[in-house]
Amino acid sequence: MTINAGYLQYEVSFGDWDANAAQVRTLLDQCRDPQLLVLPELAFSGYDFKDKAELLSLAEPFDGGPTRALLTELAAAKDMVIVAGYAESAPEGCYNASMLVCPDGTAHNYRKIHLFNREQDVFLPGDALPRAIDTPVGRIGMMICFDWFFPETARCLALDGAQIIAHPSNLVLPWCQQAMFARSLENGVFTITANRIGTEARTDRELTFTGGSQLLSNRGERLAQAPIDAAAVALCPIEPAAADDKSIAGRNDLLGSRRPELYTALH
Ligand code: ACM
Repeated sequence: MTINAGYLQYEVSFGDWDANAAQVRTLLDQCRDPQLLVLPELAFSGYDFKDKAELLSLAEPFDGGPTRALLTELAAAKDMVIVAGYAESAPEGCYNASMLVCPDGTAHNYRKIHLFNREQDVFLPGDALPRAIDTPVGRIGMMICFDWFFPETARCLALDGAQIIAHPSNLVLPWCQQAMFARSLENGVFTITANRIGTEARTDRELTFTGGSQLLSNRGERLAQAPIDAAAVALCPIEPAAADDKSIAGRNDLLGSRRPELYTALH
């Protein structure tokens, strides 16, 4: 089965959910027959929260929040799977999370397990590995931004059968777009990194987000890449089942040729 998969890249307006939702709708109008779309991390709230109180004022629960309602509406209207990052409020605190919503409204949540820098001051870390999710367009795993720096995240998703890794991001360091080549190649999975653009200067620091959203094939080929400083949409035809072939050079297998019994230092 071939599907049209891709990303939306845009500048998120801090604290303006309505403006961000309007922007997503406008960009979506430019997408022809999307079947899987990935949006950035914290796609409707912005990134650099001053403190926990500000984060809480912009966070929403997984069940019943405006982002869930919007994604459910868009997934049904376009008959697509959509993934977006959002600030999740829970009784014990807030998580940097992402949700995946299917056309029938089925929704899945993932809470970022590797919090970056000052995120640790406001968010709670997720305490569960992301899992591969069966969807009408293939088996999809979510990871969020800085999770890329820990290859175990993508590896565990591949071991769980993910064919595509949806990777909502708000990247500020310069390496991810190159490094995802290795995440795709070493795991034999498609990766869709949906980054944002623009600058936030909300505290004593200025953060510039690096754009360059990209879709890489299960063999590490760059099928699409956005500019570093402009809104963009991309859709590429991909065959998720191609990611089930882990063979390499005839006699090896990306997962089967591992020697986990020797990797004891990882524990
Ligand atoms: C990041 O994890 N947003 C850099």
